[in-house]
Amino acid sequence: LCRGVSTSAVRNVVIKNVTIIGGGQMGAGIAQVAAATGHRVTLVDTEDDVLKKAKGIEGSLKRVVKKKFADNPQAGEEFIQKVLQNVSTSTDSVSAAQSSDLVLEAIVENLKVKQDIFGQLDKVAPEHTIFASNTSSLPITDIASATNRLDRFGGLHFFNPVPMMKLVEVIATSATSKETFDSLLDFSRVLGKTPVSCKDTPGFIVNRLLVPCLAEAVRLYERGHGSKEDIDIAMKLGAGYPMGPFELADFVGLDTIKFILDGWSEKYPSNPLFAPIDLLNKLVAEGKLGKKTGEGFYKHK
Ligand code: 3HC
Repeated sequence: LCRGVSTSAVRNVVIKNVTIIGGGQMGAGIAQVAAATGHRVTLVDTEDDVLKKAKGIEGSLKRVVKKKFADNPQAGEEFIQKVLQNVSTSTDSVSAAQSSDLVLEAIVENLKVKQDIFGQLDKVAPEHTIFASNTSSLPITDIASATNRLDRFGGLHFFNPVPMMKLVEVIATSATSKETFDSLLDFSRVLGKTPVSCKDTPGFIVNRLLVPCLAEAVRLYERGHGSKEDIDIAMKLGAGYPMGPFELADFVGLDTIKFILDGWSEKYPSNPLFAPIDLLNKLVAEGKLGKKTGEGFYKHK
């Protein structure tokens, strides 16, 4: 047996109890979707944040219900209550992990912090528990290296806004077992999403194509070859994108895009697609991160 492989891993795990570490936009969105599809979810965050996050879930559920139960608001309200009952919040990741089939991390993009959390939870989580990261830019292999369950470790990458976006990228490292990978594919389908299989390569599929596209849009604008507004209109009406690149950058967060680009340009300095962008760096330095701070490329209400 190679390192991290145990006999209990040689079967698919049916995921019912889920711990989600990190109650930001992504973590709360994943918690909402998992709870709405009948999973027991524990959302773990820091003291001050947990309750706030649960409120965000309720707000998003209301938007879902407004459409889905347009003819029957009473049934919609009951649905919301049922979903909320499936979500508990906690500040204690150790006790949450002890009764989980899946521990999914969606915290800050910092390798050391992620490794510390998984390293700690590896010691207390049951043998069968699968660990997964929602990282958008760090190698899953590097995060998993802090644990002894390399065969039960993979990536599950969701898209913002999680309740609306139908895709999940399921990432296998060279050590992820077939059983783990299949369990993650099944889990994604039970969530009502469509999974695609990815290798543990930078950006997986979507961000590897999307982030250079956003970066090229900013460069095109910097060169004065088009206004932000025209570039957005062009990509929406000419390429069928639901949001233009500047709208999407503001939506995702300019800090996130900068973080991804910086990581890649450090690793692959000769690739011009990953080169630093003055305007992006300037906006981030000014705290103009997009929708979440009220201003990015555009001003937001
Ligand atoms: N929760 C629940 N429902 C939501 C929602 C949310 N967070 N966001 C939108 N909706 C639903 C609501 O029903 C909303 O109706 P409402 O405004 O009356 O509440 C309905 O969607 C329609 O929304 P909008 O009228 O605001 O606009 P759209 O029809 O354009 O849909 C969108 C919104 C789904 C966000 C669409 O614009 C879109 O697909 N945009 C592109 C998003 C995208 O590319 N995401 C990926 C980003 S990359 C990423 O996440 C990876 C990471 O690693 C960086």
